Amino acid sequence: MTIKDKFGRPLRDLRISVTDRCNFRCSYCMPKEIFGHNYEFLPRADLLTFEEITRVAHVMAHIGIRKIRLTGGEPLLRRDIEILVRLLAQIPNVELAMTTNASILEAKAHALKDAGLNRITVSLDALDEDTFKEMNDADFPVQRVLDGIQTAADVGFSPIKINMVIKRGVNEKDILPMARYFHGSGHILRFIEFMDVGSTNDWRMDDVIPAQEIVDIIHAEMPIEPIEPNYQGEVANRWRYKDGGGEVGVIASVTQPFCGNCTRLRLSAKGELYTCLFGVNGHDLRSMIRAGASDQEISERITNIWQPRQDRYSEIRSSETSSLPKVEMSYIGG
Ligand code: GTP
Ligand code: 5AD
Ligand code: SF4
Ligand code: SF4
Repeated sequence: MTIKDKFGRPLRDLRISVTDRCNFRCSYCMPKEIFGHNYEFLPRADLLTFEEITRVAHVMAHIGIRKIRLTGGEPLLRRDIEILVRLLAQIPNVELAMTTNASILEAKAHALKDAGLNRITVSLDALDEDTFKEMNDADFPVQRVLDGIQTAADVGFSPIKINMVIKRGVNEKDILPMARYFHGSGHILRFIEFMDVGSTNDWRMDDVIPAQEIVDIIHAEMPIEPIEPNYQGEVANRWRYKDGGGEVGVIASVTQPFCGNCTRLRLSAKGELYTCLFGVNGHDLRSMIRAGASDQEISERITNIWQPRQDRYSEIRSSETSSLPKVEMSYIGG
C-alpha cells in the first residue's frame, strides 16, 4: 500500500527519535547555552514505550514504510535500545538503520548487530581533537569514536556512513584530513551543509559552506566524479573517487534542497508525528494510543496527516520562514 501527500510524495521513511537527550552539545544542534544544566528533558513517563513504538512501526509498515531510522538525541542513551531494535527488526520488508554519535558504540555494536540492526551511520565532525571539541562541546576523545566505528565494522556493519556537518571557519580545514582518512576504508563519508534547523543554533548563511565548494576542495586533491543515486529521493549526492578509493556523499539541504522527493515522516520521543524537519507543531499520537485506539484508527490518523502534507521548507526558505519558531533537531532526530 502507498499513501501520497498533496505533491504526490509517497510515505516511505520513518525516523524515530527514542530520546531527546544527548551526551554531546554540538553547537549546531544542542548549544550548551540553551541545553545547560537546568534544561528540562522529557520525563521517562512521557516517552513512548518500546511496545508503543513497535506498534506504530507495524501500522506504518502496512501503509508503505520501507525504512526506519532510529535517532535521538543520542539513541544509544535510551536504556536497553537493543531490545527495541530486536522488536523492530522483525517487521518484514523494512530496513532498520540508526544514526549515532558512537560514544558508546564500542560497547553496543555487537548487541545491535545481534538484534538485527541493518545499517549504522556515525556522526563525526573532525579528526583533530580541538576541532572535534569545538564542534560538540563535550570532552570526548576522537579515538573512542573511531574505536566505535572499527568495532561496528568488525561485527559486520558495512558500509558504515560517517556524517560530518561543516561549519565555515570551524571545521572546513578538517574536510581534507577526513577525506584522506576514510578514502579506501570502505566507509562512506558524507559532508553536510550546516542547516537552519531549530531556533537555537544561531544559524547564518555565512557559516554554510556550499556543497559545490566542498566538492571542489576534495576534487583538487583526490579527483571525484558524480554517480547515480542508490534510490529515488536519496538525501546525499554521491561521488566516487576516480582512483577506486570508494565514495563520498554531499548533503546540500541548504543550497540544493531535496523536498521534491521527501518521503520522510518523523516520530518524536513522546509520540508526536512531524511531517517536516522544520515543523512547528507535531501531531500527537500518544494520547490516542494510550486511550486505546485500534490499529485501524491509528492507521487512518497517519493517513489523514500524510495526505494533506504540503511541507517543502528548504525549498521556500526565506528571511520570513527562517525566523518562525521550529522544533529542535535533537527532539525529532536528524
Ligand atoms: P540513508 O540514505 O538511508 O543512509 O540515510 P539518510 O542519508 O537519509 O540519513 P541520515 O540520517 O544520515 O541523514 C543525513 C543528514 O541529512 C541528516 O543528519 C540531516 O542533516 C539531513 N537530512 C536528512 N533528512 C532530511 C530532511 O528530510 N530534510 C532536510 N532538510 N535534511 C535532512
Ligand atoms: N545542520 C546539519 N546537520 C545537522 N545535524 C544536526 N543538526 C544539524 C544542523 N544544524 C545532523 C548531524 C548528525 C545528525 C544526528 O543530525 O549530521 O549527524
Ligand atoms: Fe547529540 Fe547528534 Fe545533536 Fe550532536 S548532533 S548534540 S551528537 S544529537
Ligand atoms: Fe522534507 Fe521538510 Fe526536509 Fe524538505 S525541509 S526535505 S519537506 S523534511
